[in-house]
Amino acid sequence: MPSDSRPHFHVTFEPEGRTVSVMAGTTLVEAAGRAGVILDTPCGGTGTCGKCRVQIVLNPPAPSEMDRRHCSDDELEQGFRLACQARVEQEMRVVVPLTTRFFDQKILTDGRGLRVALHPTVTKAHLQLAEPSIEDQRADADRLRAALVEKHVEPSLKVLRDIPGLIRKHRFDVTAVTAEGRLIAVEPGNTSHQNYGVAFDIGTTTVVGFLIDLTTGREAAVAARSNPQIAFGDDVVSRIRHTTENANGLKELQTRIAACMNDIIGECCRAAKIRLKDVYEITAVGNTTMGHILLGIPPEFVAQAPYVAAVRRSVNVSAREIGIRIHPNGLVHVLPNIAGFVGADTVGVILAADMIEAKEPVLAIDIGTNGELVLATPDKLITCSTAAGPAFEGARIKHGMRAATGAIDKIMITSDVEYNVIGDAPAQGLCGTALIDLVAELLRVGALDTMGRLLPPEEMPGNVPDAVKRRIVSGENNALDFVIVPKDATAFDGPLVLTQRDIRELQLAKGAIAAGVAILLKEGGLSPEALGRVLLAGAFGNFIRRKQAKRIGLLPDVTTDRILYIGNAAGAGARMALLSRRCKNTADRISEETEYLELAARADFQTEFMSAMLFPEA
Ligand code: FES
Repeated sequence: MPSDSRPHFHVTFEPEGRTVSVMAGTTLVEAAGRAGVILDTPCGGTGTCGKCRVQIVLNPPAPSEMDRRHCSDDELEQGFRLACQARVEQEMRVVVPLTTRFFDQKILTDGRGLRVALHPTVTKAHLQLAEPSIEDQRADADRLRAALVEKHVEPSLKVLRDIPGLIRKHRFDVTAVTAEGRLIAVEPGNTSHQNYGVAFDIGTTTVVGFLIDLTTGREAAVAARSNPQIAFGDDVVSRIRHTTENANGLKELQTRIAACMNDIIGECCRAAKIRLKDVYEITAVGNTTMGHILLGIPPEFVAQAPYVAAVRRSVNVSAREIGIRIHPNGLVHVLPNIAGFVGADTVGVILAADMIEAKEPVLAIDIGTNGELVLATPDKLITCSTAAGPAFEGARIKHGMRAATGAIDKIMITSDVEYNVIGDAPAQGLCGTALIDLVAELLRVGALDTMGRLLPPEEMPGNVPDAVKRRIVSGENNALDFVIVPKDATAFDGPLVLTQRDIRELQLAKGAIAAGVAILLKEGGLSPEALGRVLLAGAFGNFIRRKQAKRIGLLPDVTTDRILYIGNAAGAGARMALLSRRCKNTADRISEETEYLELAARADFQTEFMSAMLFPEA
């Protein structure tokens, strides 16, 4: 049956009261995305994580097997279903709880860049041209070119068409805008002080844009949004799957990211009180898949062995070509990537942290949806990618969630368990930093052994507080659970627990990173003590407590003072590239010179991984 002959139904999302009309069979995740309600879908809609629960108050469908797995009988009765599994087959009204939403998470817009000499790609020159005469019959374009310092610029056809009328109308008082050897615009009067660009960090989860005044190098505004592609899964593999399984999938994702960037540009321009046409250049970093999607390049083969990108080098395109609304002749520069799973965001980190010039061994760790690692020695740069993120982002953890309102983000064990909840709300889940804290604290007091086994109270050392011992309860499949928040203090109907399985998930995630670090160090011929600095990049890195991360073996055993937070270094790299052509060239050099290590191809990876899954002895 052709799709357009299928009936459509209205779905209203509460409490916003937004109604969309969707085709029968559409999932609620997709319908919500159309209504601008972005749901948290850590497993990419496979029905395994149970994070996308919504309450269907009008016409709930019969519960699926996945619904039964993640919702109690009472909840099913109240209309709770997994939005990724529920399909629209009649009119619906759906209440989206806070825990299922994506908007509330901490968005990091902070970063550490270097002071960069201003050398933007787009430059402006105010010109007072000599008027033509019988003695001076040079063509208009030649007259303009002769007045420029750089004589060999080529005007675009559009500019050639504009020049004769414009220069006469404004008495030969104009500003020439040039970029990459092209004359991209001629403007009336002196606009040389109106030259802006926006640097983007396009994360799988969050998109941040920095509006930069290219005449001063100063940041004029910053804005951020959740990446709207999240409606199609929150890891790159789900997004790639969407492009391969849907005829218009790539276009749909490309259009969404372009619209998101346009929103951010608009918000920045309003905040800085400038016009869209004063923005001439965009630079962008992101993982390789995000870069491909932005450019409309199929990312399909990035996710298939041998994980090959379509393009590694930086790409320059006109903004118009990819739907970005800035000056009509504005440009977009996407920084180069390194490999299928090490993208331009890592190039941005290397650039911002100046790792290409490292005088001592430096390790950078960027834990996002994946974990990207870079080791710089005075001789070389080596990088690898590990599948680390899901546990730290809450996926596959029973009560895991992102760092949003209601998430516990800090835990300490004193005479009992103490914790902090973001937004001073009833506890709804546990975010990555609290997961690390709790496991580190359980190890410290002796309630967890180095194999990762949660001990029954009778096996715990005598100094473990009784209140802590009482938190051990019997969970699913006779495994033990650790109760963090009792039932009466949570935002849902049940206690908030850490399960034995959660601990295994954390061991897998931290084991992947630690094994990657071990192999990079081996490849660089270094021991951990030789590391002069360990740099923690990215949103998650910024919130990790270093001592606790070292205790669980996530970070190498170097003194805490050598572990530095560098914030949104990828975004800082994008800003540097916007400010300076030299930085763009350095980014190209980084991409060419950085050696990529495919961990899956290493014979020693399994051994390193198995030993890295254990927790270090105290
Ligand atoms: S269960 Fe629906 S997104 Fe994971």
